[in-house]
Amino acid sequence: MSIRASRTLLSLAAATALLATAAACSSSGGKSSTAPSATGPAKGTITWYANQFGPTGTDVRKTLITAFEKANPGITVKLQQAPSDSDAFRSAVTTQISGGSSSFDVYNGDVIWPAQFGQAKLALPLDSYFPADYWKSFSPGLVDSLTYKNQKMAAPLFTDNAFLFYRKDLLQKAHLPVPTTWEQLKSEAQQLQKSGAVKYGFAGQWASYEGLTCDWTEFAADAGAQNVSSDGTKSTINSAQANKALTFMRGLISSGVAPSAITSFQEQQSETLFTQGQVAFLRNWTYAYADSNSSSSSVNGKVGIATLPTFQGQSAPGYSATGGWNLYINPHSKNVSADVAFIKWMTGADAQKILATQGGEIPTVASVLADPSVQSANPAYPIAAKNKLQARPSNVAAYAQVSQGIYSNINAALSGSATPSSALAAADKAISSALNNSGL
Ligand code: GLC
Repeated sequence: MSIRASRTLLSLAAATALLATAAACSSSGGKSSTAPSATGPAKGTITWYANQFGPTGTDVRKTLITAFEKANPGITVKLQQAPSDSDAFRSAVTTQISGGSSSFDVYNGDVIWPAQFGQAKLALPLDSYFPADYWKSFSPGLVDSLTYKNQKMAAPLFTDNAFLFYRKDLLQKAHLPVPTTWEQLKSEAQQLQKSGAVKYGFAGQWASYEGLTCDWTEFAADAGAQNVSSDGTKSTINSAQANKALTFMRGLISSGVAPSAITSFQEQQSETLFTQGQVAFLRNWTYAYADSNSSSSSVNGKVGIATLPTFQGQSAPGYSATGGWNLYINPHSKNVSADVAFIKWMTGADAQKILATQGGEIPTVASVLADPSVQSANPAYPIAAKNKLQARPSNVAAYAQVSQGIYSNINAALSGSATPSSALAAADKAISSALNNSGL
């Protein structure tokens, strides 16, 4: 090789190295980074930032980590506790990742985050790390819900459905059927309260946070109302049907069927009232079945589970909001190979079976959910198959603002500080401005 040729090669190599350094620098800090770290063999230690899921008494996250490490001896997973409130968790993740933090590698994230996280580059798109076949083990709807601009932003960990939990013993004693309409639930609750069998009739998640958007979306859909047009571009919340739903909800409080403190209840507070034996009916997610029928519950063995009621004149059952959690990769993670191995295992048959049989959650892998031993492990699974699902309008990047416009105004009407009509008008304004600002 001539001197000249080798010099050219040398300067080419230097330029390449310089470019690589520049790329690494620009991807290390700023929030626009989605450049994957170089992937090597799947080994080392990774940190999983996760909120607790499944029954309160048993931490299924730890069971899953132990089983994963046994199956993958080269990888250690450290658990970092995340806030249980979806909104608080989202702010924590957003602040850390946009500040360039790599203090966690894989994180749990709500099913409503993919559009926002995709737009803000808060998650590493997974397409180049997971073969096309991988996605076939989930329902197409589930895969759609985590796809943003043709990129898969997360992998589905578990699905949440809402149910009606009821006191079997009290209904039996009073010769009352499981209510199938909200009106029937209210009158049965009043009868049970009057007889002194129970202090309150109904509890749910009506605090001003994401959980209320779920509960509200169900009542609204039962009354025939929608928050946003089906193409996701316009607010449709200010309707006569929505007014009917909101007036009914407020009536549950003013009649004393729901405690007035319900306007500050998240999942935990509503479930505690139920497991203490103070309320006849509870709207909550799947894991509440395992929790209320556990030894720490004073109503252990007395709890039934059914689809939610609807309004009189509508076809049963009522709607359940689509909930659940995904696994996302921090774009600043330094160990993407191990992250991918962990996510593949967590969304594979072994982990999903643990999650279903010990974690009280609905598996995302269709073949696991269909497995007869899973179906018989929890009555929630066959009932979930009958659920009518209503998604939140989370396919817009401004969903967090849309939802805040919903829950803050609905909560004001429930607390009695706004009338249903003025609350819906204010929610309509807030949703419209969120949708307009997002460029839709
Ligand atoms: C549950 C659901 C989640 C929802 C949250 C609201 O965790 O799985 O999707 O956003 O409740 O509190």
